[in-house]
Amino acid sequence: MTTEVSSLYLHVPYCRHLCNYCDFFKKKLENSDTQFTEFENYLSESWLHHQAWMKDEGITWAKDWESIYLGGGTPSLWGERGAQFLKKLLPVQQVEEWTLEVDPGTWSEGMFESWIDLGVNRLSIGTQSLDEQFLKILDRAHSLDESYLLLEKAQNLGINYSFDFLLGVPHSQNKKRNVIKELETFLKFNPHHVSLYILNARSKYPLINFMPEDDYTASEYLEVCAFLEENGLHQYEVSNFARTGFESIHNKKYWDSQSVAALGPTGTGLIKFSDSEAKRYKWKPGKALFEIEKLGPSEIQLEKLYLELRTKKGWLPYTSQQTFKLEQKLQDWQSRGLVMSVAPRVVLTSKGLVILDSLMDELFSLGL
Ligand SMILES: C[S@@+](CC[C@H](N)C(=O)[O-])C[C@H]1O[C@@H](n2cnc3c(N)ncnc32)[C@H](O)[C@@H]1O
Ligand code: SF4
Repeated sequence: MTTEVSSLYLHVPYCRHLCNYCDFFKKKLENSDTQFTEFENYLSESWLHHQAWMKDEGITWAKDWESIYLGGGTPSLWGERGAQFLKKLLPVQQVEEWTLEVDPGTWSEGMFESWIDLGVNRLSIGTQSLDEQFLKILDRAHSLDESYLLLEKAQNLGINYSFDFLLGVPHSQNKKRNVIKELETFLKFNPHHVSLYILNARSKYPLINFMPEDDYTASEYLEVCAFLEENGLHQYEVSNFARTGFESIHNKKYWDSQSVAALGPTGTGLIKFSDSEAKRYKWKPGKALFEIEKLGPSEIQLEKLYLELRTKKGWLPYTSQQTFKLEQKLQDWQSRGLVMSVAPRVVLTSKGLVILDSLMDELFSLGL
């Protein structure tokens, strides 16, 4: 029996500047020609390796694809040559949703033309804040004017787009960051989607001593969730909000534990063979090879619990024994305003989502 794949994540690991808070795999782009040639060689080799592995495992590409996501790093830096390269590499004709991550100050008219010509129909814009002071605090390479230019461009292209917004930013408490004012400005550009992240600071982060208190960030998150809902961007996952019909197809595939292939250094793919068998693989940064992890029924169910609880679709307990063990816990969560529904699916409120990790710990302590 063959398994079909219709989604791909491709990691483009270059940035013109390395933001000091960023956890993702990336390198500074210093010599664009040399580095992108090296990257394209890596991708060509990876593609052959991936094709051979798919053949061995009985996996095929679907005729029409559901999604491609070019993430990074800063994929827009790959420019027109990136679009030309992928046109030759990928055996794809029709893609329902093709997202390109673009950062302010890293695009050109020609770049947009070639990517849209290839099939890109969604942009994810790396803005993070619309306050010059906080862009500097975040160590971003772009100015506020460059953010406005890109947001205007997305609007003029008439393309479906999302912007990234960071909460829990250093100094936001003592300098009284006004996130609602920033979001009001964003809304003037008519975005279809927002990805909202809480800054995760490592112990060596240079601004670790200026982080806001957890309670402050939690109330900032709840305030933003309510504001976005009031303005027609409904929350469909802990970090994602969309106008109806503009939820990301690609992201939903991850949360539904469906197959998504991957290419590019550190890119991670998942192939689901059945409800009880899956393989996850992660590309090595320096070699066109990946490491494979096998997932059995219990790992798949556990991931499903974690991923589904993040979403507004919610988690469906899978055995009657689990439902029994959960009964008291769910009553307690209900009385604390953490769940909006408990049957048949457990759906968390925004208040529940903001403490998702501790709720997961409570579930694990029940031995689910
Ligand atoms: C890896 S970036 C790629 C997109 C683009 N280069 C940008 O800077 O927005 C994707 C998202 O991850 C977020 N991110 C990176 N490091 C993070 C961290 N330590 N905590 C929370 N979000 C982080 C970025 O802010 C961005 O919104
Ligand atoms: S531009 Fe994006 S990917 Fe690059 S270092 Fe900054 S946050 Fe990370």
